[in-house]
Order: sequence, then C-alpha cells, then structure tokens
Amino acid sequence: MLNFTVITLFPAMFASPLSHTILKIAQEKEMISVRTVDLRDYAMDRHRITDDYPYGGGQGMVMKPEPLIAAIEDARKKGKNPRVILLTPRGKALNQQEADKLSQEKELVLICGRYEGVDERVKNFVDDELSIGDYTLSGGELAAMVVIDTVTRLIPGVLGNVKSPQEESFSNGLLEYPQYTRPEELKGMKVPEVLLSGDHERIKDWRREMSLKLTRARRPDLFRKAQLAPDERKSLSAGSSRLYMALLHYPVYDKNGQVVTTAVTNMDIHDIARSARTYGVKRFYVVTPVKALQKLALKILAHWEQGYGSRYNQTRKEALALARLKDTLDEVVIEVEQECGSRPQLVVTSARPGGKRTSFAQLREMLIRDSDPCLLLLGTGWGLTDTVLAQSDYLLEPIDGGTDYNHLSVRSAAAIILDRLLGK
Ligand SMILES: C[S@@+](CC[C@H](N)C(=O)[O-])C[C@H]1O[C@@H](n2cnc3c(N)ncnc32)[C@H](O)[C@@H]1O
Repeated sequence: MLNFTVITLFPAMFASPLSHTILKIAQEKEMISVRTVDLRDYAMDRHRITDDYPYGGGQGMVMKPEPLIAAIEDARKKGKNPRVILLTPRGKALNQQEADKLSQEKELVLICGRYEGVDERVKNFVDDELSIGDYTLSGGELAAMVVIDTVTRLIPGVLGNVKSPQEESFSNGLLEYPQYTRPEELKGMKVPEVLLSGDHERIKDWRREMSLKLTRARRPDLFRKAQLAPDERKSLSAGSSRLYMALLHYPVYDKNGQVVTTAVTNMDIHDIARSARTYGVKRFYVVTPVKALQKLALKILAHWEQGYGSRYNQTRKEALALARLKDTLDEVVIEVEQECGSRPQLVVTSARPGGKRTSFAQLREMLIRDSDPCLLLLGTGWGLTDTVLAQSDYLLEPIDGGTDYNHLSVRSAAAIILDRLLGK
C-alpha cells in the first residue's frame, strides 16, 4: 500500500482523475490511498492568506513559507517517515527509473506550488524536488497527478497484466514497438505480416528490432544509453533498411516537356552508388531501355566489379556492387518484390511543385516502422513523367534550398534525400 498525501490550494482538482479506471481500482483494492490537504488550513491569519509579494519586486506572487512548512511538518508527524517531494520545474526530471524508485516507497507527500512558485526556504523541509518535464505548468496539481498515475501503475498487482509495465516505453530504456489491433487492413494500411504469423519468436524479434529502430530515430539520447547485444548493434548498422533506389533514364521529360530517354552518365552511377552504400541502401538500379547505353553502363560496372578498378579501389568496388541495370521500372519492381516477398512502395521525387507531398520525416518514420520494401525513384532530364508519378504511392516533398534556384543534379539530390531518410 502506497499512501499519497497531496498538499495543495486546490484539493477539488483531484476528484476526477482519482475516480476513474486504474487509479480508482487501485484505491478500491487498497493498493494506494490519496489524501488531499488544503494548504489554507495551515494559513496563519484569519483571511487564510498563503501568498505574498516577492522581495526584490517582479511579476506575480510567491507562496508564503510558514503555511507550507506547517503542512509538511504535520504530514511528517501523521505519517511514518514519508518522502516529501516538492513539484517544481527546477527539480530532477521524472522518468521511468525515478517512478520505479518512488513506487517502492510506503508514503509520499507531494507539494503543489502555484503562482511564481514557493519561498526558497521551503526547500530545506523537503527530501526531493521533482519536475515532470521542461515546460511550465500553472500549478503543481497536474504534476502531482502525473506522479500518482505513473507511480501507481508500477505497483505490483495494480495492472491486470503484470507483464505490461516491463514491456512499455522506457521500462527497458527504449521506446515501445508499434501496436496494432483489428481490422487487419485499414484504408490500404496493413498490419505487419509478422504479427499475424503466430510465430512468437519472430514476433519477439520484430518487436525488439522496431523498439531499437524507433528509439534510435526519435530518442538518440536514450539509444546511446541502451544495453544492446553485440549482434543487435551490428545488424542495426548493417543497412537493415528496406530502401531500394532506381535512377530512371526513361520515361523522363526534356526541357520542352517531351518524353525522352536521357544518357547514362559515369558520374551519376559512381556517385549515387557510393551514397547508396554509405547509407545502407539495399540496391541501386539504373534503368534504361536503350541497348547502347546499357552497354556503356555495363562496361563501367564490369570495370569496377571484375576489371582493373576492382583491384585498384576496393571501396569503389563495394559501392558499385549495389548497382544493377534494368530495361524498365516494371522489371525493377518485380525483382524487389521477388526478393522481399511484397511489392515495394514506390516513392517518387520531383522538384516540380504541386501534388500531395509526403515529408522526409514521414517517410523516415515509415522506413523504420513498416516491413514493406520501399523503392525511391530518381528522375533524370527534366524529371519523371506524370505517368510515373501517377503509378507511385508517395510523392516526396521537394528539397528546398531556400532560394528560387531549383536545379540540383540528381546525384546531389540523391545524397541529400538519403541523409534525410537514413542519416543519423
Ligand atoms: C507557474 S509555476 C512557477 C514557475 C516558476 N516561476 C519557475 O519559473 O520555475 C507554478 C507551480 O507549478 C508547478 N510546476 C510548473 N511546472 C512544473 C513542472 N514542469 N514540473 C513540476 N511542477 C511544475 C510547480 O509546483 C510551480 O511552483
């Protein structure tokens, strides 16, 4: 049983949160009790005043020390060695570890500040100062409720499923994996196949992988501190992304709006392959239906894969090993589908304005969360044709350099996009 005593100017604020679901049940089961103490009962004058002007001037009022100290001393006398906590934005940050420690206490006294805060001398009468986050609330009541809620659900037996607190975000220092419920498909969005497989070992591995990836992407501070097995670290860094790329030389527009085939260039193949290798892209396709251009591209690739280049520069060989030549986009889609077991989501890039755009952040999130492969299409010439755009699932937002000049080379655009999607 954990007994909370809350010292506040607004005891009525606690009625509603305490009379629903988990907090209500925890009280009924006598796992916690919450007693609110009206600070005005400890005021020293007949007007029950608890605040005063700040010394040195300035905005607002400060909570007087005498009523607070009297209330704390009374709570200490009535309790059995309670831990007294002042809620303040200047306090130590509340996190899951801290909540876990508090859940092992028998008695907690929570002091809610108001106005501009409490007279500094009150701090000599408390054991801890706690903040619930880097923002300023109007009063400590909501912070006290957050503490009561977070701590209560960690008391063994409060939650029906005793395992759930251990699996939640932060419990193991990581964010939680994505959760799904019925229906299996909603507006084209499917529940990841692994969750329907019934294979508990695979599900466990998938959840762990998602948890690690989400934490790495959203909370690098937590990820740095996370305990990872050596093979987990390796597999996360070994380009576990499901991102494929294709450089389309056909069908693209020329500057007059005609659909044309552009020339394959040595520079694009090299530079994009090196960026792809750097960011862990699965494969980089060069797409052209023109046999003479395919011959040229094959000559470049053979030079680096088997010829003199492969002996001269190993790292270049490694990058160019990702490159494949295809006649059409359809062939690329089929090959990726055969390799991954599901059709890739087609993501097009276009510098032309208009259309419903997916942001880099959204696509980055999808790459972390979804198990479907993703094929990023890069256009040459004056950009991918409307037919390709219509075939695609997502239209990525354009790169904005902050000027009216909008003519990045495809290799530069590829590098920038990869950094935004996969860079740390
Ligand atoms: C308006 S705030 C006072 C802020 C104070 N002037 C300052 O800048 O630190 C009034 C009261 O709300 C509570 N409070 C505000 N933000 C909080 C936070 N992030 N965590 C815990 N308590 C908070 C504290 O009890 C505080 O005394």
